[in-house]
Amino acid sequence: MPKLDFLKNDLKDLHESGLYNVIRTLEGANDPWVKINGEKRLNLTCNNYLGLANHPEMVKAAKDAIDRYGVGAGAVRSIAGTMDLHIRLEEALAKFKGREACVVFQSGFVSNSGVIPAIIRKSDVIFSDELNHASVIDGCRLTKAPIMRYKHNNMEELENLIKENQQYERKYIVTDGVFSMDGDIADLKSVADLADKYDCVVIVDDAHGEGVLGKGGRGVVNHLGLGERIDVEVGTLSKAFGCAGGFVAGNKDLIEWIKQRGRPFLFSNALSPSEAAGCLKAVELLEKSEELVSTLWDNSKYFKASMNELGFDIGHSDTPITPIMLGEASTAHGMSKKLFEEKVFAMALGYPTVPKGKARIRVMVSAGHSKDDLNYGIEKFTSIGREFGVIK
Ligand SMILES: Cc1ncc(COP(=O)(O)O)c(C=O)c1O
Repeated sequence: MPKLDFLKNDLKDLHESGLYNVIRTLEGANDPWVKINGEKRLNLTCNNYLGLANHPEMVKAAKDAIDRYGVGAGAVRSIAGTMDLHIRLEEALAKFKGREACVVFQSGFVSNSGVIPAIIRKSDVIFSDELNHASVIDGCRLTKAPIMRYKHNNMEELENLIKENQQYERKYIVTDGVFSMDGDIADLKSVADLADKYDCVVIVDDAHGEGVLGKGGRGVVNHLGLGERIDVEVGTLSKAFGCAGGFVAGNKDLIEWIKQRGRPFLFSNALSPSEAAGCLKAVELLEKSEELVSTLWDNSKYFKASMNELGFDIGHSDTPITPIMLGEASTAHGMSKKLFEEKVFAMALGYPTVPKGKARIRVMVSAGHSKDDLNYGIEKFTSIGREFGVIK
């Protein structure tokens, strides 16, 4: 019997328990309307917050970079893969973020597995929000340090855990800036206060805050006015920046250290020239104008207000992430399927991505949607929501 035959049974289990993830194929760019199965559908599910993924200036920058630099960086950055494009991108990001320095990685996920194990030792201790992203969790596990999970955004529990673990010389608090399933923001001001009181280093993964929160999309730390009280900012270039990649921003020593000891920096090929050039263009566009960020917020406020008025439970999001809370996974999957038939692409999320009984359809509007697009989505949610008895 072939050795991996057990996977057949594991896959069967996934199908039978309704946990099998059907992955849709887009037959074109990730625009406000996407083609799937030959038909255009309203895209309410992607993280292309500012509509930059297929923005003409981004596309041009990427094409120009291919003409000049080719399609591949050719090596890991520490050997021969660092191009002047990577350095320009890092300098632009550091300036945008108002930090001394920055290093880019191949993705946001990789950034977390790059920075966290590079600085945290086995003999240190980590305090981690229970709803942190998988890449933060994996990064923490790679350190082999003890991980103390605190209840989501529960500062009392965090303080108690820190008090109980005073024996550790180096202590780290690690949290998402924006929690991706609910759209709520970490209580970072209290985290920074506790970090000052108990001498902890703070690492924030701001994947959903970059390009969304703060002045012109400078992220959650800027939004809350915390500046250097947050020691390490991790971001992604794959969501609002419309491209692919991730980064770590902080002081010069931190970035220099990561370039010496960050394993994905040392052992994995650099961002491709077209990706680096696209990301650089995104930073330039954000530096030049706040318009896209404010359109994103206008659109999300409009969508949220309409859904709320219709009687949908839209959770407690502080950001454009809009969870339509539906309770049972069968309702969320059923509605998502029906929406798809009505040409709306909006994914259902159930257990184990979110807790049991808290299934939802997570709507992501973007700056690229027109009011007509949003009205189309709202209209379809209304009729299907009524059909499923979710609203009156
Ligand atoms: C909170 C958070 N961190 C990190 C990532 C990973 O980012 P990337 O897609 O750039 O790897 C994600 C992506 O879903 C995320 O939501």
